[in-house]
Amino acid sequence: QTIYLKDYTPFGYLIDGVELTFRLHPTATRVISRIRFRPNPDATDHRFFLHGEGLTLISAAIDGQTVTPDRTDTGLTCPVPDAPFVWEAEVEISPSTNTALEGLYMSNGMYCTQCEAEGFRNITYYPDRPDVMAPFSVRIEGDEKILLSNGNPGNSGTGFAEWHDPWPKPAYLFALVAGDLVNHPDTFTTRSGKKVELNIWVRPGDEGKCAFGMQALRDSMTWDEEVYGREYDLDIFNIVAVDDFNMGAMENKGLNIFNSSAVLASPETSTDTNFERIEAIIAHEYFHNWTGNRITCRDWFQLCLKEGLTVYRDSQFTSDMRSAPVKRISDVIALRARQFREDNGPLAHPVRPDSFVEINNFYTATVYEKGAELIGILKTLVGDNAYAKALDLYFNRHDGEACTIEDWLQAFEDATGRDLSQFKRWYEQAGTPRLSVADDFKDGTYTLNFEQKTPATPGQDIKDARVIPIAVGLIGPNGDEVHETTVLEMTGARQSFRFDGLSAKPIPSILRGFSAPVILEREITNAERAFLLAHDTDPFNKWEAGLSLARDGLIAMIHDGAAPDSAYLDAVQTMARDDSLDPAFRALALGLPSQDDLAQALYDQGHTPDPQAIWEALETLRHAKAQAMQDLAPRLYAQYQVTGPYQPNAEQSGARSLANAALAMITRLDGGAQAQRQYDNASNMTQQLAAWSCLLQAGKGEAATAAFYDQWQHDRLVIDKWFMLQILNADPAKTADTAARLTKHPDFTMKNPNRFRSTLGGLTASSAGFHHASGKGYELLANWLIRLDPLNPQTTARMCSAFETWKRYDSDRQVHIKAQLERILDTPSLSRDTTEMVTRILAG
Ligand code: ARG
Ligand code: ZN
Repeated sequence: QTIYLKDYTPFGYLIDGVELTFRLHPTATRVISRIRFRPNPDATDHRFFLHGEGLTLISAAIDGQTVTPDRTDTGLTCPVPDAPFVWEAEVEISPSTNTALEGLYMSNGMYCTQCEAEGFRNITYYPDRPDVMAPFSVRIEGDEKILLSNGNPGNSGTGFAEWHDPWPKPAYLFALVAGDLVNHPDTFTTRSGKKVELNIWVRPGDEGKCAFGMQALRDSMTWDEEVYGREYDLDIFNIVAVDDFNMGAMENKGLNIFNSSAVLASPETSTDTNFERIEAIIAHEYFHNWTGNRITCRDWFQLCLKEGLTVYRDSQFTSDMRSAPVKRISDVIALRARQFREDNGPLAHPVRPDSFVEINNFYTATVYEKGAELIGILKTLVGDNAYAKALDLYFNRHDGEACTIEDWLQAFEDATGRDLSQFKRWYEQAGTPRLSVADDFKDGTYTLNFEQKTPATPGQDIKDARVIPIAVGLIGPNGDEVHETTVLEMTGARQSFRFDGLSAKPIPSILRGFSAPVILEREITNAERAFLLAHDTDPFNKWEAGLSLARDGLIAMIHDGAAPDSAYLDAVQTMARDDSLDPAFRALALGLPSQDDLAQALYDQGHTPDPQAIWEALETLRHAKAQAMQDLAPRLYAQYQVTGPYQPNAEQSGARSLANAALAMITRLDGGAQAQRQYDNASNMTQQLAAWSCLLQAGKGEAATAAFYDQWQHDRLVIDKWFMLQILNADPAKTADTAARLTKHPDFTMKNPNRFRSTLGGLTASSAGFHHASGKGYELLANWLIRLDPLNPQTTARMCSAFETWKRYDSDRQVHIKAQLERILDTPSLSRDTTEMVTRILAG
């Protein structure tokens, strides 16, 4: 059943207060609710429907009188007074058999919840929609040492604890945790002098992995005060680490719940990349307190209102804490890999979708990452000061409300006087705009002629011109910048911009900082690209010049059997040698386009990508690069060794990433000798994992693989890496066999989403292995998705997107994939989640 944005109507009742009592039991938890309703004067439809799924109703009453509601699979209804009334119900649920990890479930003997988007209906009968907001009081009864819920603590004693959350919230922000947990405590004083108790709660044994997360939380709290003027608003802020979790983390009011992989960190067990991700996720969830919780979404179509803005805010935070250019480049790599891929395939949808079957299928790169890009466009268009003014207006005007994208845009229109109707198309129309550009130079005037076109996406044939901020700088033939960055505002389908008073034809640096999420198509020679890699003052475009040089060279290798491009090898070596450049930047600029990027690029040029040929071309180029840099790589490796105690900061991690990029090159020539030394001497996970990957690449990983397992078998998060890296580094002919073998390992379990993703996600991330011509990669994935679906539909559905690119490939592969998709679809009682995903992929 499809739900449409246009059908929105407000709920017929408002809630003045919710009281919940939980009597915890693994298979028979009782949930007793007392909810004070009153008719909503703004509603026309006064049907009383409460969502509820998989609940055993014990009793129900209205104003103290027992009632017998009409029940269906999705909820209940009954006659209610046309005046304020009290609804009471008692239901029974079974957390220990809840493998979907939505609602109240158990993870390693601990009770926890995940209610976004629609999990609260698995806990009790309730209007489970984000526009119904209420203050909650919760009493938890159980033998566990620690009993937590949202808000501030109330009474507690042996076997019970009470919590009161004064801030009205939708049910999706409800949370409960109960277990024998230990805490890493701290405090934070807000700038108005309010003292807040902070805790990170973990299983005994994980206490030593909390300090970094705590510091990230304190940094986030300070940053939101300083940059957005937002203070925390409760006496306590709790974070809990949970091993079994479908996503990264969840911003429940005052009680954030995290996938343990997104909060626990130590130098011995976490890589630099893990540390940076953890810092960003802690910030993300904390920032939701204002952008998501204090101001929430009217309905789930507005998901990007909180997610796009909060991703944007966490990326600003990371840019401030670390290197802004490195963060921007990394974000664009991820955006292209996930969002462009989505936007150019059968699962393309607008940042604000107008229909869905299962909302969990719309927690996508488009809603999150493209949603964040739109905030960036808006800020570029109105300017930093107007952005700050509009945000203040938004917070003041809508605090305590459930809002829409229209409310968000109205705040900007009112604060800036600007008409944003064209900008709004970015929210409504799916697809990645293609921005093509041609130039012209005459009599000292340089002209850039742009044209934009967005291809059709499923259900949306017609695309209108978007407003696109194009940041441009001009560089003179001698390498000096002759025109500093200026933002051209393109509003038409075709538009030209002129630059006067130039003495020679410049080389343009277009779309600096990736000022809009578009695909730039330009005629440019390799010499000009090498020139930009050497001279561009914009770090993003400097990196982009190197990447596109590499990409074009690879395409020539794949398609025309060309040799590795010496222009690229020379230019990238000159860049890598330049010690005035940030090592982290150099490590990124030494990177090559991904297999998937190359497949899409070939497809866009009208070719059928051959995954094996792509993989081989990348290997050949990596080898050629290692040879070209056989003197430079050992120099970089030695120069960027970090001495002194490990710090997960930008400086040290940048040095390690450059040294490890050098190690990868060295390994191609020395067969793994240096990597083995690094493995043997590694004192942190970044060094250990980089060395082990190099050994696996060189086919010399066997001993390290066994040693790594012996050393880390007690640590679930490290063993996740052990599963994944073996698959990622396998030869494509063996990827599926490696993954299949690992699914038989005693430590493999499909009940833990992290372990499932490490293994089957490792398969799908290995493009040539997954797309092996035999079809065995497809079959293995489908087998496991069919097995997982009855247990955990959400994670199953999410992983179906591995098939979203199927139309790019040759007919044999398409036949294989189609057969697997149909086999999944034919599975009896397939979940709504997976059915929707597979149907959309097949239809696209
Ligand atoms: N709101 C969470 C976050 O972005 C994600 C929760 C998604 N949950 C889900 N079941 N889809 O921080
Ligand atoms: Zn979020």
